[in-house]
Amino acid sequence: THYSVAVIAGDGIGHEVVPAAMDIVDAAGSRHGFSIDWTPYPWGSEHYRTHGTMMPTDGLDRLAQHEAVFFGAVGAPDIPDHITLWGLLIPIRRGFQQYVNLRPARHVKGVRSPLAEPDGTDLMIVRENVEGEYSEVGGRFGRGTDAELAVQEAVFTRKGTARVAAYAAELAARRSGKLTSATKSNGIIHSMPFWDEVVAEAVAQQPGVELRSVLIDALAAAMVSRPQQFDVIVASNLFGDILSDLAAACVGSIGVAASANLNPERTYPSMFEPVHGSAPDIAGRGIANPVGQISTAALMLDFLGETKAAADINQAVDDVLRDGPRTPDLGGQDGTREVAEAIRKQLVCS
Ligand code: NAI
Ligand code: MG
Repeated sequence: THYSVAVIAGDGIGHEVVPAAMDIVDAAGSRHGFSIDWTPYPWGSEHYRTHGTMMPTDGLDRLAQHEAVFFGAVGAPDIPDHITLWGLLIPIRRGFQQYVNLRPARHVKGVRSPLAEPDGTDLMIVRENVEGEYSEVGGRFGRGTDAELAVQEAVFTRKGTARVAAYAAELAARRSGKLTSATKSNGIIHSMPFWDEVVAEAVAQQPGVELRSVLIDALAAAMVSRPQQFDVIVASNLFGDILSDLAAACVGSIGVAASANLNPERTYPSMFEPVHGSAPDIAGRGIANPVGQISTAALMLDFLGETKAAADINQAVDDVLRDGPRTPDLGGQDGTREVAEAIRKQLVCS
């Protein structure tokens, strides 16, 4: 089997961790009988400096020819973050209807955690990725006057809410059967009761899933006191954004966290990116942790149907996290290459 994948390494450490992860995927492919045809696209801050845009105007059309987009990170100190984000990532997420942002948070032995008892934490956060609180509806009125006000509307549709809930319910059915929905229907009195209602209806279609709605504030507190009680969590765009960073922090370094932006219908390519950014503070030094990007590659292979290869990569990652080598963010002294090479060896020797 061959897969066609677009690669956007982007900026900073993206150029270090993306090639490292591609090597691992190629090694997994030789073992499992598939190959990836990688097409690199040099888009990001450098493209912005020379052309004034993060990607060419036909960027989405070109990406649409591939089965997946493998993304590193974008962001540079000399360019405002809203330009890098709204010029590349958000157009891809929205243009390709990647309405599920899937962010696993699993504690692995060997990774430091701020929690007293992180063992057994294994969460899947399903964040609504294209609507909700992150909307362009609203504005600022009476700028500079005493009567100035800012209005920011959250926009929830039945279709948008039902489909992300259905995805989460299906995922929960394949795992423990436990699904938690993040809400705030006691304080946000229009959109959140609507969210609760539509989520409950969608989840009822999926046999064997037990749904629990938990207020976001209590959920955040429970996440840091006993995360093991949760499995799949479905949340709106804003709540999911915050919860997934919180969950990632609970299980350790941002350098190990993976994420996927999925179009479950496969009408458009899905995009796979680590949670971390371009890390300008350590870029170019060869010390970035490649694990986030490598685990992201495993999410991509899983979505493409190479589930065995994905599981093997995850196992090799766990083995290396436990035994080393380790990059400095995990308390080690090894570099990107050493860690990636150890994971590759573990993969081909297992
Ligand atoms: P960041 O994730 O790039 O870095 C935060 C801290 O974590 C830094 O100290 C960095 O050295 C460390 N870190 C991140 N990834 C690491 C890795 N793989 N190994 C070891 N240490 C790692 O977030 P920051 O500093 O807030 O943003 C830097 C730039 O990245 C900004 O321009 C921001 O907009 C962009 N960014 C882009 C994202 C994306 O492309 N999806 C996501 C987050 C930030
Ligand atoms: Mg975030």
